[in-house]
Amino acid sequence: MCGIVGAVGLEDCSETLLDSLKRLEYRGYDSSGVVTQDGDSFQMRRAVGKLKNLSQLMHESPLNGRSGLGHTRWATHGGVSERNAHPHIAGDKVVIVHNGIIENHSVLRAELEAEGHKFASETDSEVLAHLFLAAFNEGLSPRDAGVRVLSMIEGTFALAAMHIDHPDMMIVARNASPLAIGIGDGSGFVGSDAVALAHLTRNVIYLKDNDLAIVRPDGVEVFDIEGTPVNREVVIVAASQGMVDKGGYRHFMEKEIHEQPDAIAHTLAAMTDSQGLLATPIPRDELAAIDGIVMLAAGTSHYAAMVARYWIENLARVPVTCEIASEYRYRNPVTSAYSCAVAISQSGESLDTLMAMRHAGEAGLRTVGLVNVAGSTIAREADLVMPTRAGPEIGVASTKAFTAQLTALICFAAALAEAKGEITPERRDEIHRQIQKLPSLVGKSLGLFDEIRPVAHELTSARSALYLGRDVLFPVAMEGALKLKELSYIHAEGFASGEMKHGPIALIEEGLPVVALLAADEVMGKAASNLQEASARGARIILVTEERAAGTVDFADSVIKVPDVDPLLAPLLLSVPMQILAYLTAYEKGTDVDQPRNLAKSVTVE
Ligand code: M6R
Repeated sequence: MCGIVGAVGLEDCSETLLDSLKRLEYRGYDSSGVVTQDGDSFQMRRAVGKLKNLSQLMHESPLNGRSGLGHTRWATHGGVSERNAHPHIAGDKVVIVHNGIIENHSVLRAELEAEGHKFASETDSEVLAHLFLAAFNEGLSPRDAGVRVLSMIEGTFALAAMHIDHPDMMIVARNASPLAIGIGDGSGFVGSDAVALAHLTRNVIYLKDNDLAIVRPDGVEVFDIEGTPVNREVVIVAASQGMVDKGGYRHFMEKEIHEQPDAIAHTLAAMTDSQGLLATPIPRDELAAIDGIVMLAAGTSHYAAMVARYWIENLARVPVTCEIASEYRYRNPVTSAYSCAVAISQSGESLDTLMAMRHAGEAGLRTVGLVNVAGSTIAREADLVMPTRAGPEIGVASTKAFTAQLTALICFAAALAEAKGEITPERRDEIHRQIQKLPSLVGKSLGLFDEIRPVAHELTSARSALYLGRDVLFPVAMEGALKLKELSYIHAEGFASGEMKHGPIALIEEGLPVVALLAADEVMGKAASNLQEASARGARIILVTEERAAGTVDFADSVIKVPDVDPLLAPLLLSVPMQILAYLTAYEKGTDVDQPRNLAKSVTVE
């Protein structure tokens, strides 16, 4: 989950590289670096910590050069230190940047060291620099050196390399990790995504796995892994893929929480046909033929999938299994029970989800990508795309992408149910009408910040918290717990309320905060009894509920109320106060809300 950038053919490339890195900082922020070729030497600056540290260093000690590479790191192999920061230079001749994991790096490193190569870092990536150096030392051309290196490495990579004797030229390659090549006017660029290049060009080539390319100011040549030239389409990316700012909010997360009414409305528009009816990008006859769905996702997107399972099974009577993407691929799943795989991913780049989707596709399932980033790898590789229209989500904690995913998924569930004859067109239209109320209901729930602030204040002193929900609110409870732990570093777990008595209730002691989700649904009474059991053992109950259900738990210590909503849509609306609670708790604790420790927005390693 590092970000890589590169540029050739500019008057002075260092500021351009820094600007591109700023657009990629969501991918990792442990350390960063920039290298430029200045005449017959490489000049490099690297700094530990956020990109602003590198920026300051480059301000104090500027770099010159027409061509260069940059990197923002999320550490995998080797701790967070300047020497492990990229770029990595070998023999003063070759420099590389890399995103991914070279799985056979230990063997390669031992071989290279035996040949006399001296390593300067503990990273897996540095072997790439030495492999290129060895290939060039044998007199291979840039293309042949690239072919040689690709034939030796195993794992995932998006890489860019430069050689001192080949000025204004980059060798780039990818396997599973994202990479975009930008074509400028007398210049060439590379970036981990098109957003990194949006200020430079809209003409982009996305490499396929195991492609190799030579980027020069006057053009790009693409080769397959054997070195045979191949054609790859030049795509014109949307002009809107630019930088976004905080728009006056303190954090991107705060802004993104407030953008949810729009994110939901725009996603709903994408799931509505020209006659104003709920529809999906999947043709109706294909929908009707779906007899089993496997949902593949990670993190928050996985919780969205779990909510959707309740909806789809309940409305459409189609069996659904929700799989943690990183588990699915390696456990040899029985795929014959399902005809459709839905890969859910905000970024469209999570490697676990991409690999799981490929696995399902290879097993013959029709693949649907539910993604927020148009042009992402999952969007390009899925048979069909169901878009969320949340707009760029920059804060590492997913907020508007989650509620947009839920919006698309309830639309999908209702359209599927109608196509399969499980509900009438009138019921589908009624669900559609209820979904249309969501932007305004979510808008009203955004007024809860002041009410939630004192609850968050109390939570800051907690060492642990439990989140409870029953039925469709169980995955929402897990999502609430994930928000709290990733932002405020308070240990939090989500449980199915009915499961508490089977073990987790032992955790309850005097004052333990229990965030309890309650809706006016069929299980409300049972969920309230489960809370009574927790309260009787000293838990401090923070009830998050609809107005009309609040009276059911009259023993709660704090009550956060959202407006009444159709029971089907309660998971969506009740998510909002949980996001606000996690945000305010983290803010008060003074953690880095938009870039929490150890995390990255887009996880492109396995
Ligand atoms: O981009 P994706 O939806 O594939 O990302 C999946 C998870 O990494 C992501 O949802 C993560 O759990 C968020 N940080 C949670 O807020």
